[in-house]
Amino acid sequence: MVRRRKSRSQNMPSKKKSSSHAAPVPPPKFAIAIMAAGKGTRLKSKLPKVLHEVGGKPLLAHVIAAAVQIVPARDIYAIIGHEAERVRAAVKHTGVNFVVQAEQRGTGHAIMCAREALQHYDHVLVLSGDAPLISAKTIEGIRDFHIANKAAMTILSASLANPTGYGRVIRKGRTSSEVAAIVEQRSLKKGQEKIREINSGFYAFATKALFANIDDLGTDNTHGEYYLTDMAAVLKKVKQRVVVTQTNHPDEILGSNTRAEMVAIDEKMRMAKCQQLMVAGATIFYPATCVMDSDVEVGTDTVIEPFVQLLGKTRIGADCRIRSYSVINNSEVGDGVTVRPGTIMDEARVANSAVIGPYSHLRPGSEIGEGAHVGNFVETKKIKLGKGSKAGHLTYLGDADIGAGVNVGAGTITCNYDGVNKHKTTIEDGVFVGSDSTLVAPVTLGRGSYVGAGSCITEDVPADALAVGRSRQIVKEGWAKKKREKMAALKGR
Ligand code: UD1
Ligand code: CA
Repeated sequence: MVRRRKSRSQNMPSKKKSSSHAAPVPPPKFAIAIMAAGKGTRLKSKLPKVLHEVGGKPLLAHVIAAAVQIVPARDIYAIIGHEAERVRAAVKHTGVNFVVQAEQRGTGHAIMCAREALQHYDHVLVLSGDAPLISAKTIEGIRDFHIANKAAMTILSASLANPTGYGRVIRKGRTSSEVAAIVEQRSLKKGQEKIREINSGFYAFATKALFANIDDLGTDNTHGEYYLTDMAAVLKKVKQRVVVTQTNHPDEILGSNTRAEMVAIDEKMRMAKCQQLMVAGATIFYPATCVMDSDVEVGTDTVIEPFVQLLGKTRIGADCRIRSYSVINNSEVGDGVTVRPGTIMDEARVANSAVIGPYSHLRPGSEIGEGAHVGNFVETKKIKLGKGSKAGHLTYLGDADIGAGVNVGAGTITCNYDGVNKHKTTIEDGVFVGSDSTLVAPVTLGRGSYVGAGSCITEDVPADALAVGRSRQIVKEGWAKKKREKMAALKGR
């Protein structure tokens, strides 16, 4: 569960006790900058890197979700650049600010571009928009270590079995938390490639020291970019304190530079999500086969069978059974609901105790009432199906308002589209629609009425009436026998 945002004052480490006559020292003011301007060349994609999804959400959305637990959205600055407008549109709803880095000349340059926005704060926490596993707790850890050490720059590091590709942290001494420099993979000197302590790409800076010295960053490196990592050496040179704190959760800092890394992060995130849902009281069989998006909620004693996908903001109630091969997106499912195999739901709502499937397709705007049944190969769109109503087989129900206790026979179709406009079908409580009926909208079937099987209904049916809309049956006695005899005679010639 996402933790509620705490107020800023609650979040600050306890400030020094001020003597009784002095005014209380206000807590230091923190901003969070999220670097998200890069293109993501290594992904070979039309989509900017930070909009690639893991756990069903853009990378950047995950980082923002962690950040808003530390400071309010108004103190968060996403630095965007490549496809800036697309990135902005995708996360605008979070309320964070945006700084545009028009040309992407490196992580150091990204922060230079944000000088105007950040310099009014005492400190800035810098996060990478492409490292979505970061937790609020870890960010808090950097902040507290930074304050406790009165540092100009604090680096979060991790010890990785395979550090290849990451910048390495060069400490002043083996046990010292002071840092001499960060060296990027491509600039490693002989022997340095063995250093397993890597730079996570998460930092805290005292803004005064940062902006007083950031112009000393150079571009003398293999990419010709301003590296934010070089701030360690720059600040060291002017005798500022640069420290490192190592995380015990190295998984959290994994960056997603390649498709393979992204898929690995996605898998980790979804497995963690399954674990979290199980801790909360749901059973998930063969979780490795299930795809659970980050924001999904599942009630207690609900059982989820293998190969189920719960996507977007889907909420499943308690005591449900979601059977295999069902894909449920942005939908709300009540308590005690059975979803039989192969069901697809998109922006649908299903009330308590309903039974859906197998192979039902609930499209957007489907509202299925309590105890109702939608069965085999039934497609619904923008409909209300009342309490206890049934549509068991091979049916299309679109743009319809269907009351309670209605029986919709197999093969029934609401003809809602005239080629230009959509029209509504109203079926009142207790109606019985015989199999294979076509209901040509707009049309109303009055309360308690009957529709004979195979009818084409083009006019309203009054309450309690019977409507039969089919041609009369003709019976020709002996016709088939005669036909057979004629055929046999032809064959014998
Ligand atoms: C960076 C660090 C590296 C560290 C690694 C951890 C630098 C120079 N290197 O490398 O030491 O081990 O992260 O994951 O910082 N970005 C911008 N503007 C730019 C360039 C990048 O906003 O001009 C953003 C990217 O969108 C990305 C983040 O900054 O979200 C990091 O950039 P990226 O190119 O992924 O850096 P790494 O090579 O991973
Ligand atoms: Ca990266």
